[in-house]
Amino acid sequence: MRIDVLTLFPELIEPALHAGVLGRAVNNGLMSVSLVNPRDFATDRHRTVDDAPYGGGAGMVMKCEPLCAAVESLIEKNSLRHVVLLTPRGRRLDQALVREMAVWQDMVLICARYEGVDERVSEMLVSDEISIGDYVLSGGETAALVVVEAVSRMLPGVVGNWESVETDSFYDGLLGPPQYTRPPVFRGAAVPEVLLNGDHAAIARFRRREALRVTRTRRPDLLANLDEEMLKRLADTGRKTGIPEEENEP
Ligand code: ADE
Repeated sequence: MRIDVLTLFPELIEPALHAGVLGRAVNNGLMSVSLVNPRDFATDRHRTVDDAPYGGGAGMVMKCEPLCAAVESLIEKNSLRHVVLLTPRGRRLDQALVREMAVWQDMVLICARYEGVDERVSEMLVSDEISIGDYVLSGGETAALVVVEAVSRMLPGVVGNWESVETDSFYDGLLGPPQYTRPPVFRGAAVPEVLLNGDHAAIARFRRREALRVTRTRRPDLLANLDEEMLKRLADTGRKTGIPEEENEP
């Protein structure tokens, strides 16, 4: 997968591309991420990328010309179909959207600064507007990193052990189960016995039950979105959704 990030602050993104799981994906060529600065496409002496909003008001707006020139140069090079603007106005990112994006061959992520970008850029070139949540950041760079990192985990070979993706929160629509490591007892708190005895079927059942319990307690809204197959798998654990914990105990 190829991702071009359009940003006035490449230095905010650059270091994250070389660390951890994402760093490995980039270094192993499973994903290529290039940083492109729209300022390099400004044609005036001051390399201007923003201007005051028509109609007045606070702040500045990112200008059409440098942004469009930058996007168009990438489209020419790569025949891109997905041009994404990161904005609080966009479709809210969730794991389902991350999976959709993970099959895209390439994409441009536009990071807005100031009060946003001139609407005509969106109308002419943007195919998708994405928000990472209902809050306002000072720019799209951290949002772009969220997208890049979440999508990278879905690419084959990026996470060495696919099982660890499958136990991620949200992978199957549930929050992840609690995890433990050595020591078996810490300050009097013991690791659940079932995890210590090597019975893999029992461990899988325990984890699914715990994932369901945590989801029901913290994010009951997620249970409403489960698909048929998932509901069947939950039924196999002997659990029904939405009823109090005690009534569910075997
Ligand atoms: N830019 C500013 N806030 C944002 C958000 N919540 N999501 C995506 N891009 C943004």
